[in-house]
Amino acid sequence: MSLTITPSGQACGAQITGVDLTVPLSPETVQEIRDAWLAHHVLSFPDQSMSDDDLERFSQYFGSYGHDPFFGPIEGREHIAAIRREADEQTPIFAESWHSDWSFQESPPIATCLLGIDIPPQGGDTLFANQHLAYEQMPPELKAKLEGRIGIHSAVLGYAPDGPFGEKDKANGRSMDIRPSAEAYETQQHPLIRNHPETGRAGIFGGAFIYIIGIEGMTDEESRPVLEELMAWQSRPEFVYRHAWQQNMLVMWDNRSVLHRATGGYEGYRRELHRVTINAAA
Ligand code: SIN
Repeated sequence: MSLTITPSGQACGAQITGVDLTVPLSPETVQEIRDAWLAHHVLSFPDQSMSDDDLERFSQYFGSYGHDPFFGPIEGREHIAAIRREADEQTPIFAESWHSDWSFQESPPIATCLLGIDIPPQGGDTLFANQHLAYEQMPPELKAKLEGRIGIHSAVLGYAPDGPFGEKDKANGRSMDIRPSAEAYETQQHPLIRNHPETGRAGIFGGAFIYIIGIEGMTDEESRPVLEELMAWQSRPEFVYRHAWQQNMLVMWDNRSVLHRATGGYEGYRRELHRVTINAAA
């Protein structure tokens, strides 16, 4: 089977057709998809009427299941979470800040898959920012501030028990099964600039302020302006691909190459996607 790969024409992203993800894939097809994923960083597969079994099988071609610390799984599954917002829900949009999934872990997921289950007729796009391009085009003055620096990552600003997803959020009617816990206070270090483990291409790793909460060897007062400058740079429009969803569309992205964030604009409509994170094969 030969895939048709259509680049988005934006900073990253490509659409893949000519493959049926509801049936097992040959090693050659998996390799073609992996190569396209490494080249384009975000792949979308339209018109895939996938079941949760299909979603799990597809994800396992690319690594092992990730550990999702602050989500409850959907019923009957250990590794699938629902990104969900009901039509009448008033809570803030989930994941509206730029981030790389679970970057506060020692081995964060290399990839995330999202499958469109219930897609609103308007809004709800996901934005992706290419962190290789952002690094390559970075002004030398900013590069000099970041080279060799280690970012301190933590889930504290999102998932601490007294954080934005605490009891008050539940009481306000959050339909997603988000489970804050004291695990959010843990920290993990990763270089701010690093080479992609598979392609060797240099890039920025992680999103300032949502999960990167500081820089090793700097006080908060010293790191804050640097992180502000970094976030303003890494999310510039010229590095961004805007992804519009369709029902039964699967998207897989590379958390080592892109940041992503959700958007709103679908008030009055329900939105649900099923999500699996993928860690590097053991
Ligand atoms: C996510 O960050 O996993 C959710 C993205 C989205 O809802 O568009």
